[in-house]
Amino acid sequence: MTDPTNLTGRAALVTGGGAGLGRAIALTLARAGADVAVTDIVPEAAHATCELVRATGQSALALIGDMRDPHRVDDLVDEATRTLGPLRIAVNNVGMMGEHSAAPFVEWTPRAMSDVVAGNLLTAMYSCRAEAAAMIRDRVDGVIINVSSGETTRPAPRLAPYGAAKAAVNHLTRTLAVELAPHRIRVNAVAPGTTLTREVEAALTADYVRALRASIPLGGELSAPEDLADLVLFLACDLSAHTTGQFLLSDNGAFLSRSRPPLDTH
Ligand SMILES: NC(=O)c1ccc[n+]([C@@H]2O[C@H](COP(=O)([O-])OP(=O)(O)OC[C@H]3O[C@@H](n4cnc5c(N)ncnc54)[C@H](O)[C@@H]3O)[C@@H](O)[C@H]2O)c1
Repeated sequence: MTDPTNLTGRAALVTGGGAGLGRAIALTLARAGADVAVTDIVPEAAHATCELVRATGQSALALIGDMRDPHRVDDLVDEATRTLGPLRIAVNNVGMMGEHSAAPFVEWTPRAMSDVVAGNLLTAMYSCRAEAAAMIRDRVDGVIINVSSGETTRPAPRLAPYGAAKAAVNHLTRTLAVELAPHRIRVNAVAPGTTLTREVEAALTADYVRALRASIPLGGELSAPEDLADLVLFLACDLSAHTTGQFLLSDNGAFLSRSRPPLDTH
């Protein structure tokens, strides 16, 4: 019997794949048989993930650039398809909470607001545009997966610019799912539970993490990067051939919890 999670022969691209969730996603796709292009603004990070991908036996390509630059995004997607073949899977993972996360809304500077919109929404928009154009040109059935946030499921005081930018990513996802469906391109969004990646671990207080852990319905543990990566694998493979325009969480029920503590950062 064929394995529906087998991605052998498919080229994938993971933006911001040099660290955190993006690295786990790149490795999970590679272990399922995909060849993986990894973009990152930090060259050593992209190269380190590519070494790990190659260790699984798959091809890897490190692409260095800032996904806030639309021309660079177009070039990187072109380079990925030239080297690895037609793009079948694209995971738009670049994002950031921003330097003012957990500050009261009135203290957010316009500069910090536009950084968060650029870093979360424009990166996803530019990436979707370049990836969809390549998939349409190459006439492949493609899958685009945008990494969003659980903070879009409820009001997120002190994170309004981030929550708003990620909510716009969800709407972008639903809209593109309809617009790109005639081209056989599926578009979905995912979000992790709070995961102690670099930016998040540095930001959160120990008391908050303790209270958060205790509030999580399924298991009482924070999410691991691999939890989200498994959800991405489901959406990338043929098991989800009939799923498009959806927003799915892998958070152990964390965002449903009525005892979730208010965000507290250093
Ligand atoms: N960690 C969490 O708890 C959490 C929760 C909800 C959503 N998310 C989302 O998940 C995604 C990944 O988060 P993470 O925690 O793994 O982050 P991270 O900071 O650990 O890793 C992000 C990677 O993206 C790269 N990057 C950042 N901006 C870039 C840009 N403009 N161009 C190219 N590369 C860039 C960084 O160099 C880094 O390697 C983000 O979209 C984030 O908003 C994370």
